Amino acid sequence: MKVVSDKVSLRKARASFKGTVGFVPTMGALHAGHASLVERSARDNDRTVVSIFVNPTQFGPKEDFSKYPRTLEADLALCRKAGADLVYTPATLYDKDHQTWIDVENVAAPLCGERRPGHFRGVATVVAKFFNLVQPTRVYFGQKDAQQAMLLTTMARELDFPLEVITCPTVREADGLAMSSRNRYLSPDERKRALVISRTLHAVQTLFDKGERDVDKLESVMESALGAEVDRVDYAEIRRWRDLGEIKMIEEPVLATIAVFVGNTRLIDNIVLTPKRGKLASRQGAKRPA
Ligand code: PAF
Repeated sequence: MKVVSDKVSLRKARASFKGTVGFVPTMGALHAGHASLVERSARDNDRTVVSIFVNPTQFGPKEDFSKYPRTLEADLALCRKAGADLVYTPATLYDKDHQTWIDVENVAAPLCGERRPGHFRGVATVVAKFFNLVQPTRVYFGQKDAQQAMLLTTMARELDFPLEVITCPTVREADGLAMSSRNRYLSPDERKRALVISRTLHAVQTLFDKGERDVDKLESVMESALGAEVDRVDYAEIRRWRDLGEIKMIEEPVLATIAVFVGNTRLIDNIVLTPKRGKLASRQGAKRPA
């Protein structure tokens, strides 16, 4: 596995690759969720590239950019084990007076976009830069960051990046907590209280399986379950899966999505609820969301 940190070496190494190239962009502090993306890429492609870069432009002024965990040696060991061929670790990616930004308007508007102004603009811009530098055949994101995956799928399609975006299932700890680089901020008590997130999603799934389709009812179940354990509920919402639009009744696939603060740590998680398709819908060839 080769490690490079400047654009010239990256382009040179990339040019030496024949066949398909999978790409996993990351901010480091890697865990089993990232490993599953790298492994999937290594299975699907001839070569796999991972980037490790804590991207300053996606953090708000009061967010955790400076204290975001940086664990390069352990990250490189994980990449090697998971099957990466090339790891790109730039020190910076922006000119001092960087002025070109990508806004994916509608997908970025609600949920995390509303609560973290500028966040998705930073994500879209850095990922577009990576797409140009790495020129991957396929790129892999985790479903835990569902809105991010949706936004980057939209960006790739609308800006004609010649690549396939693949969204992979959320990887969970044995007790249900979604893997996240930010889990390491949690104290033992916070770690215990954070379990309410996956428990709440499980409860929503159970109510949905029993036939509950009323969004207000499901959202109030989420809010009261979370409110009892976490320090702040940032949002607990059910949104249309295909475009994150608001709905009243579940008649098509939806995202049940949560963002909460446990102590000072912001955690997110989600599940997709898919009603069984009626005969009419399947006969008409109703489109499944990407
Ligand atoms: O999901 C992340 O780790 C980041 O948002 C990404 C996609 C690497 C862009 O900095």
